[in-house]
Amino acid sequence: MKLENVKKVAVLGGGVMGGGIAQVTATGGYEVVIRDINSEVIEATRESIFDGKWGLKRAVERGKLPFDAAVEAMQKISFTTQLSDIADVDLIIEAIPEKLELKQQVFQELDGVVKPEAIFASNTSGFAIEDVARDVSDARKANFVGMHYSNPVVTMKMLEVIYTPQTSQDTIDTAVGLGEAQGKAISMVKDAPGTYGFLLNRIFGAAYREAKAIADAGIATEEDIDKAMITGRNWPAGFFGRRGGIGKEW
Ligand SMILES: NC(=O)c1ccc[n+]([C@@H]2O[C@H](COP(=O)([O-])OP(=O)(O)OC[C@H]3O[C@@H](n4cnc5c(N)ncnc54)[C@H](O)[C@@H]3O)[C@@H](O)[C@H]2O)c1
Repeated sequence: MKLENVKKVAVLGGGVMGGGIAQVTATGGYEVVIRDINSEVIEATRESIFDGKWGLKRAVERGKLPFDAAVEAMQKISFTTQLSDIADVDLIIEAIPEKLELKQQVFQELDGVVKPEAIFASNTSGFAIEDVARDVSDARKANFVGMHYSNPVVTMKMLEVIYTPQTSQDTIDTAVGLGEAQGKAISMVKDAPGTYGFLLNRIFGAAYREAKAIADAGIATEEDIDKAMITGRNWPAGFFGRRGGIGKEW
């Protein structure tokens, strides 16, 4: 499906990531429906999109978003627990828990319910997209792509767009176009079955393993490792969450 034909987006799973993805999709100009199986999560997410730390109200207060745009975005977002309510969407971004079998099962179910030309995107942190898409039809595999956001979605600009050998060029272009409308900086990544973590999480994982090896060997403390990354590379946080104790300045 081409970007100009995308009018309505569904976000599957309205938790930490789903709420943020829905918010940037709405501020990007798209109608969006969040589907979660838990109505309490839906209420909490509705509240956090409106009034949370990264929500629309704070964006207006911080001068990041005009008031009218925030009102318009809120009006574009709807919530449901019913699968049938997302049958007519043009694109789905999945943000349910990181369990491969669950994602495979949910996408297989969606394949039978959602119109055939709709794009399926997964926000998996690192499962190969080919594996996530295993149980959908071959036709849908052409419309299957990875869209991996970073938390918190509203403030982190990164978006990895992951394509398989089956992903069509239209699908890739639409995922990139939607990401741009959401205000994201896009890195393209070729799907690599047998690995986990695409680009960001693989590199971070390698660095974390090295940091842990240094700490375990007694070469430096966790605090000194974090201090070096924060003060020497301008990282906002280190590997171990050690900032030298409350009130201590480096
Ligand atoms: N949290 C992060 O920092 C982060 C960053 C990038 C990617 N991710 C990935 O995003 C995905 C979601 O992570 P999260 O942190 O938002 O999880 P979360 O637990 O906050 O939210 C997941 C939501 O999915 C719902 N859910 C479960 N089964 C469902 C179904 N069949 N249909 C609809 N909703 C369903 C749950 O009720 C829950 O509200 C995972 O794949 C995770 O690896 C997470």
